[in-house]
Amino acid sequence: MKLPESQAAVLQTASANEAQTFEQLADETGQKPETISGAAFELEDEGLVEVSESTEESVALTEEGREYVEDGLPEVRLYEAAMDAGADEDPAQMGRIIGQSGLEGPQVDIALSNYARKGYGTIESGEITADPDADPESDAEAQALAALAAGESVEDGGVVEQLESRGLVTVSESTVRSVTLTDDAVDVLMMEGVETAETVGQLTPEMLTSGEWRDVEFAEYNVEADAERLDGGKTHILRQTANRVKDTLVGMGFEEMEGPHADADFWINDALFMPQDHPARTHWDRFALSNPTEIRDLPEDLVERVEDAHHNGVGEDGEGYHSPWSEDFARAIALRGHTTSLSMRYLSGHEIGDLEPPQRFFSVEKVYRNDTLDPTHLLEFFQIEGWVMAEDLSVRDLMGTFEEFYEQFGITDLQYKPHYNPYTEPSFELFGEHPTTGELVEVGNSGMFREEVLQPLGVDCDVMAWGLSLERLLMLMYGFEDIRDIHGTLCDLELLRETEVLH
Ligand code: PHE
Repeated sequence: MKLPESQAAVLQTASANEAQTFEQLADETGQKPETISGAAFELEDEGLVEVSESTEESVALTEEGREYVEDGLPEVRLYEAAMDAGADEDPAQMGRIIGQSGLEGPQVDIALSNYARKGYGTIESGEITADPDADPESDAEAQALAALAAGESVEDGGVVEQLESRGLVTVSESTVRSVTLTDDAVDVLMMEGVETAETVGQLTPEMLTSGEWRDVEFAEYNVEADAERLDGGKTHILRQTANRVKDTLVGMGFEEMEGPHADADFWINDALFMPQDHPARTHWDRFALSNPTEIRDLPEDLVERVEDAHHNGVGEDGEGYHSPWSEDFARAIALRGHTTSLSMRYLSGHEIGDLEPPQRFFSVEKVYRNDTLDPTHLLEFFQIEGWVMAEDLSVRDLMGTFEEFYEQFGITDLQYKPHYNPYTEPSFELFGEHPTTGELVEVGNSGMFREEVLQPLGVDCDVMAWGLSLERLLMLMYGFEDIRDIHGTLCDLELLRETEVLH
């Protein structure tokens, strides 16, 4: 029997007694898995093989699970510390035992919530006892973790479920397809044998001109076979969301602001009534520029009014900082730590001339902060800056604007917390609930600009304003838990490829 090469290879490699997975056949024949899959389905149509499907469950340790394989489960460590302290005889002070166990942070709660459940002892009114008969050596969860770490499988479904609910393992399912030869195939192989037929997968211009196409045998297409996956380029999820945010704000009547990433401290801080000795203005928090180091053309009138506000405050009973203010300090250039520098440039009339209320402006731009990297902080992030200038604005207007904006992204459970900014009064932070962890995530900061900011700028109506984080919005929309997965050098390409675009 003449068969295309891939089908001949499958037929010669598969067996009648033992099912072989597509993966195994691919390994043995040296063909690609998708080629094997195509060939297997062709052969199934011919009645030469049977393709069977099964679901395979695989259990993998999470990072936390791996940590406990090394260090021991927190409840076991607590038990050991309690035993060492003689808590099997007399109850011991909780605080002391925790100290001796070396448990820290969230591990303490984890230990406490599993300790009694597993019968290691009791915890009551600040005291802990240890049951001398408990045996950490036979802790089913610890044993299962060790087995998984050694590459063995764990039969006890209950333990796996428990570990999964503790976030120590992940369980995933995949479909595995296998091939077995039919009796017909065995007959064919024994009686006539299999030969490889030259088949052609693609018609070429040469075949057409030479007429060769008349004699060749074409491979058949199987549109049901698993296809090779091609990952094309696509707009990064962060950029997609930035564009959506821009469209949403334009739809709400806002115009876009533009301006420099590296700017004078005057626009980043001084215009915002940030005292020059404010801790956020020290050299370790800002990214200064060495070339050029300062901006020369600041608007002189405005500089004077801002300096006066810093010294004396504004209004009759105004109060300033009474601390030194230096124009040189204000001229120094740094990477902006917020895009509120752009709001200052626009509100002062410096960018597009004096503005009459009502006005609405926004930007979705990068800002730079000398933060410590962690799951919710990078050295740079995108800030969604915005402000509304109008007569008689109140905090209700600000909250209403946020509700309307976030609703477009499916976020309807905003919470607010009073806050302090030197430039707004009142001020508050916004929080949303993380869709998978349920934790409250801070998504932004906002408030009504103070007179000390507005008067020097020459604005004599109300201005409400905010700076929101685009990355945190993404975390709430998509359930990402670590922004380092989304951008930066550690980003998870697979996650970016597979994340669905939400509209
Ligand atoms: N600049 C603030 C921040 O970066 C955000 C903000 C802007 C707050 C405008 C109030 C008014 O956190």
